[in-house]
This record gives sequence, C-alpha cells and structure tokens, in this order.
Amino acid sequence: MSYARIQGTGHHLPKRVLTNADLEKMVDTSDQWIRERTGISTRYLVEDGETTCDLAEQASRKAMQAAGVGADDIDLVIVATTTPDRVFPSTACLLQKRLGIHGGPAFDIQAVCTGFVYALGVADKFFRAGSSRRALVVGAETLSKIIDWTDRTTCVLFGDGAGAVVLEASDTPGLLSTHLHADGDFEHLLTTRGGVSEGLPDGADTAYVHMKGNEVFKMAVKTLGRIVDETLEANGLEKSQIDWLVPHQANYRIIEATARKLGLPMERVVVTVAEHGNTSAASVPMALDVAIRDGRIQRGDTLLLEAFGGGFTWGSALVRY
Ligand code: UT7
Repeated sequence: MSYARIQGTGHHLPKRVLTNADLEKMVDTSDQWIRERTGISTRYLVEDGETTCDLAEQASRKAMQAAGVGADDIDLVIVATTTPDRVFPSTACLLQKRLGIHGGPAFDIQAVCTGFVYALGVADKFFRAGSSRRALVVGAETLSKIIDWTDRTTCVLFGDGAGAVVLEASDTPGLLSTHLHADGDFEHLLTTRGGVSEGLPDGADTAYVHMKGNEVFKMAVKTLGRIVDETLEANGLEKSQIDWLVPHQANYRIIEATARKLGLPMERVVVTVAEHGNTSAASVPMALDVAIRDGRIQRGDTLLLEAFGGGFTWGSALVRY
C-alpha cells in the first residue's frame, strides 16, 4: 500500500492588518476583553476584490516550491473552504487553472473550521487506494466576507488566510491516521443565517456568521478531548510520543485545554491565534507551515493536528513529518 507524506508546505496572509484597537472603534469591545477571552491581537483581511482563490494560489505556489514540484506533478487538488469565490466552479477548479494543473480530480470540501483536516482525511484515502501520487491540499478562507462587522460576538474573532501542503506517495506513512466526525444536531451552534437555497433573511445582503460562542467553546473542549484519546488509541501511542500539537486556532483557552489533555507544555504547541485570529479551514495548515519554516517542526517529528467547527464537525490527523 502507498501512503501520503508531507513534502512541502506554504501559507499566505493578505496585507491588511486589523488590530484590537481598530475594532474598539467599530464595536463595543476592548483590547483587554479580546486578548483575555481569546488570545487574539491581530487578524489579516483581504481588500475588496481579493478572493479566497487569490490567497490559495499564493499559499500553493509556496508549498509547491518548498516541495520542489511543478504543476505537471500534481494529480489531485482539494481545497477546504467555507468562503468559495463562486457558487461554482469549485475554488479547487479555479485554483487548478491558476496553477496550470490539468486533468486530475479537483474539488472543494466544506466542513467549516474542520475543513483542512477533512481534506487531509480524504486525500489520505486517495493515496491508500493508489489513486493519487502527488496532491495539493489547501485550506483557504475569506471569512471577513461573511462577518457582520457590527456583531461584537463574532467580528473580533475571525481573519482571512490560506495554507497549503503538497502530499507525495511514500512506502511509509506520513499521514498515520485521520479521524473525522460530525453531528448535525448541533448545527444551530455555529451557522450562517440563510444561504443560496434558503435565501437571505429580510434586509441581509449576505449569509452572516452566527455563533453561540459559549456553547461552541464547551463542545470544542469536549470533542477535542475525545479525539485526542481516539487518535492515540488508534495508533497505540502514549501522550508522551506526540512531539507537536498543531491545533485549530480559534481561542487560546481552547488550545490550552487540549494541550493539558495531552500533558504537553505550551512550548510544544504551535500557536498562531494571536497574530492570525481564527481563519477557519486555513488555520491548521498556516500554523503547520509557520512551525516548519521557523524550524520548530523537524523531519521525523510526530504531530497531532486537530480542529472543530460548524456542523458541528471535528477531526484529527496524526502525522509523522
Ligand atoms: O472555529 C470554531 C468557531 N468558534 C470558536 O471556537 C469560538 C468558541 N467560543 C469562544 O471562543 C468564546 O466563547 C468567545 C470568545 C466567543 C466568547 O468568550 P466567553 O468567555 O465564552 O464569553 P461569553 O460569550 O460568555 O460572553 C461573556 C460576556 C457577555 O456579556 P454579559 O452577558 O456577561 O454581560 C458578552 O455580551 O462578554 C460579552 N461579550 C463581549 N464583550 C466585549 C461578547 N463579545 C464581546 C466582545 N467584547 N467582543
């Protein structure tokens, strides 16, 4: 059997920085509240006209360069996004065109903040089935386009960005296991009001994010605790064998709770939430790339990637880098 191994990574942030001080001028909030409750100081936002595919393209080019591969080498493109450029074609097809990749399957995955972990899980199955030899897997979002900038309970949290990995076929597993879950009974905790088929509520010009933050927080801590156990058990691993936790970057306090569950000191946790905010499907691959490029994550290290989000969805990937 052939397995997937991470060959190269990349990430891209838009240029515009939105600080907590900027937000203080927009809604009734404070730098202190945002930092204490979430750990976030800044987030990056696209300019008008800049799209999810623009961010995905830049991240992908960096990942392909790091992997030393060209467009002709890629036989599968998966983009995890909640904020596609268009209803259709998929952002993956738009990205394929930008990069000059032809012929192999290209499709989007929509699992909100768990999207990138879902995409890794699906890509892993392509490799194990012998259907892909080299894949581009991307998490890219322009969440700022579906944020109600007058709603202080959500607008302080989210940002835009993209992260990408190139996976190559290998005789030994790089993706050791992936674990994907969802429970639609909890869809109301984190959702958009309306959409393409339901239509929009009166007066709304887009389907804005609506979240019961406190309930999402509790659900996240509970499901992430469970998935840590599930992942370790499936691989016959002890907590002490995890070198790095690369978590979804939603809230510093949620990240701390998962690290505690793993018995990992925070020095072994990749944390980008302070600078990036919550970039939904882009958060895990961006954090991964940051820690690979600054030399913290080394070849041979064992990484636990995890995420949770709207759906309710949650998942993990155990990776030997
Ligand atoms: O990617 C997955 C998606 N989302 C998440 O992971 C988010 C998970 N949830 C969270 O991170 C936290 O629940 C939040 C950061 C969203 C909120 O923190 P919290 O400690 O759960 O606060 P809360 O919702 O219980 O609200 C506490 C108070 C409320 O005021 P009262 O009712 O106590 O007077 C809120 O109205 O804080 C108020 N509040 C704010 N105050 C200043 C809510 N948002 C803000 C704000 N600035 N931006």
